[in-house]
Amino acid sequence: MTRAPQDFLTLGDVPAAEWPRLFDRATTLKAQRGKVRHGSLAGLTIALVFEKPSTRTRMSFQVAAFELGGQTVEMSATTSQLGRGEPIQDTARILSGYCHAIVVRTFGQDRIAEFARSATIPVINGLSDQHHPCQVATDLFTVREHFGALDGLRYAWIGDGNNMACSWIEAAGLLGLDLVLACPDGFAPDSTLVAAARDAQQRLGKGSLALTTDPVEAATGAHVLSTDVWASMGQEDDAARRRAAFAGFCIDAALVSRAAANAIVLHCLPAHRGEEISGDVLDGPRSLVWVQAENQLHVGKVLLEHVVIRSRV
Ligand code: CP
Ligand code: NVA
Repeated sequence: MTRAPQDFLTLGDVPAAEWPRLFDRATTLKAQRGKVRHGSLAGLTIALVFEKPSTRTRMSFQVAAFELGGQTVEMSATTSQLGRGEPIQDTARILSGYCHAIVVRTFGQDRIAEFARSATIPVINGLSDQHHPCQVATDLFTVREHFGALDGLRYAWIGDGNNMACSWIEAAGLLGLDLVLACPDGFAPDSTLVAAARDAQQRLGKGSLALTTDPVEAATGAHVLSTDVWASMGQEDDAARRRAAFAGFCIDAALVSRAAANAIVLHCLPAHRGEEISGDVLDGPRSLVWVQAENQLHVGKVLLEHVVIRSRV
C-alpha cells in the first residue's frame, strides 16, 4: 500500500511532537558522517526543481541524497520545459513517474502547493516567496545543538518580514517560542501568519510573539539573533529603496552588546557584510552562521528521509 505523499511545504507539516525525533536523527547522522554508511534512500531519486538561484539548499540536498544512497536530478527553469510554460500539473505528474520526491524552489507558495497537489510523490519547499521551512528547521536544530534546548530562550528577528521571518513566526506558533521581530515600517510580516501563530501559542499555553520597529528593543536580552538580506530574490530592483528603509537594522557589535551575554547570531546566507550584518559579527565569536550552513546537510537528510519513508509502503 502506498500512502498519500508526506509533503513539507511549511514547518507545520511536521507536527511539534515529531521535531525532537527528527533533530535527534540529524544529530546521529552528523556524528556518524564519514564513519557509518547509510542506505535509507538507496535506489531512490530526488528531483530538484529550482526556479531561483541556490548554493546551500541545492548542494546540501544533492550531497544529502548521495550520502543516504540515493541520487538527485536537477531541473532548472531555464533548461526545462517548465520555463517555456509547460504547466506545473504536467511537470509534477511526469516527475512523479521518474522520481521519489521533489524539492522545489520557486516564487509564490501557490506554485509549490500546485506541485504538491499534482504530484503523487512528496514535495519539499526549498524556498518560496512566503516560506523557507528547510532553513528554519536547520536554524532550530542549530539552536538546540548549541543551547541543548529550544525552550527558555528569547528569539529576535531583525530585518525584513520576509520568507525567513514568516517561517520563524510559524516555528514560534508551532513550538511555543518567545519571538520578537523588529522590521521597519512597511516591511512587517504577513499579519495573517502572525495572528495564526498567536492563536497556536494560546492553544499550546506557551510562547509569545511581538512586533516592533526598534531593533534594540528586539535584541535586548535575546539569546538568538537572526537576520537575512534586505532584498530577497526577485526584489533586486527594490534594493536601493530597501537599503534606505533598513538603515539602523544592521546586526553589528553595538546591537549584539544589547543581547544576552551568551547570545548567538544566525544568518541563512548569502550575507551582505555591512548591510544586514557587520563583517566582524558574521565572522566573530557569537556567529554560528557557518555551523548553521553545514547543518543544512544533516537536517536535509532527515527531511528527505521523513517525507520519502513516510510516503512509501
Ligand atoms: N540559505 C539558503 O537557502 O541558501 P541558498 O540560497 O544558497 O540555497
Ligand atoms: N530571503 C532570502 C533568503 C535566501 C536564502 C531570499 O528569498 O532571497
